[in-house]
Amino acid sequence: MHKQNRDRFAKRLNGGVAIIPAAIPTIRTHNMEYTYRQNSNFYYLTGFEEPNSICVIAPSHPKHQFIMFVQPRDRDREIWDGKRVGVDGVIENFGADVAFPISEFDKKIPDYINKTDRIYYTLGNGPFDQKIIGFIKQNRQTRSAKGIGPNTIIDPSEFFAEMRVIKIEEEIRRVRRATEITADAHLAAMRMTRPGMYEYEIAALIESIYHKTEKSYPGYRTILASGQNATILHYIDNNRQIEENDLVLIDSGCEYKYYNGDVTRTFPANGKFTDAQREIYQIVLETQIALINMIKPRITIDKVNKRAIRLLTEGMIKLGLLEGDTNKLIEDKKYQKFYMHSVGHMLGLDVHDVGKTADGDEYRKFEPGMVMTVEPGFYVSTDSQNIDPRYLGIGVRIEDNVLVTESGNEVLTGRIPKTIDEIEQVCAENQT
Ligand code: GLY
Ligand code: MN
Ligand code: MN
Repeated sequence: MHKQNRDRFAKRLNGGVAIIPAAIPTIRTHNMEYTYRQNSNFYYLTGFEEPNSICVIAPSHPKHQFIMFVQPRDRDREIWDGKRVGVDGVIENFGADVAFPISEFDKKIPDYINKTDRIYYTLGNGPFDQKIIGFIKQNRQTRSAKGIGPNTIIDPSEFFAEMRVIKIEEEIRRVRRATEITADAHLAAMRMTRPGMYEYEIAALIESIYHKTEKSYPGYRTILASGQNATILHYIDNNRQIEENDLVLIDSGCEYKYYNGDVTRTFPANGKFTDAQREIYQIVLETQIALINMIKPRITIDKVNKRAIRLLTEGMIKLGLLEGDTNKLIEDKKYQKFYMHSVGHMLGLDVHDVGKTADGDEYRKFEPGMVMTVEPGFYVSTDSQNIDPRYLGIGVRIEDNVLVTESGNEVLTGRIPKTIDEIEQVCAENQT
């Protein structure tokens, strides 16, 4: 997969040379780091997971087109931090044409960039940026004499984004696996939750299910929101005790071999929706199903967004939360009081994956191989004014992951219950 990605990426470079550094480790406190996660574009091209490495793609170089600079083997460091692949290993196991210790970058890089006029590099890597800018400055002095050498830095992010929007076979396999593990976890949570438990207990169960599979872990901090916490979109405190008549909104996804699932389910803690919860839930559910049914090649993402807004606005009118003419309410964005995010996003190496949804005024059309989330929601915050109080504090989101196919779509997360009957049945399995 990575070789295929490199070959396709190289074709876009037009004689240029790309320099892609690994993600920079981030300090959490003093000398403790956050869990390291490789930069998605770096991983896409190399499959290499270690920090302190640089990938160079030089399609026009006579001998080496894929060059890696990595941490060398070091027995002492490996005792503290774990095994390193090393210079020989990255050639043998990752397909590099040549590799050097990272400390030799300054000495070796001129061999690869001296004959190109452009460097593809994404600014934003701290002091390393200065090094790349330095190549251009330095070359300004020699270019007048020799007439060659880099004089432009171009951001390759858009190349990556366009390539990554359409998933190839192995990527789809991984997303599929990520969504399967995610589904297992959501199902287990639905079965285990009871009033009296704490949000973090359910979050821990979910995340433990992710960790059980090799190379898999939470793709983002689990949103485990009970009661009115469900109206806070990115609630991650996860420390409240769940009460008898709460809805529990869980937004959680597994990342498997760098590819993500991203699923939300909302269900009653005691296994039975109250009437008010049921009314809001049913509107979100019908909306979500209608939106999924729209997804097929050549439909624009924008159409799905607009449909979500219309259906949810109609639902808000039906419940008496909004009053007036539907079109006018939509035009004035009144729905934003209860639905304030968009209908979904691409999913892949990043949870909110790269890829434009529009090019200027032109919206992107669905194509086979795209993976999207579909996640309408309805949130009535406790400080909402002039509404029927029985809706206060109810938050519902339903999120599935959808693969676009030639003939329409496949819902990768379809086996996690979402109709009211299915949910009440699964919750009842454990309400004894
Ligand atoms: N989990 C973040 C989102 O649904 O977009
Ligand atoms: Mn989500
Ligand atoms: Mn999402």
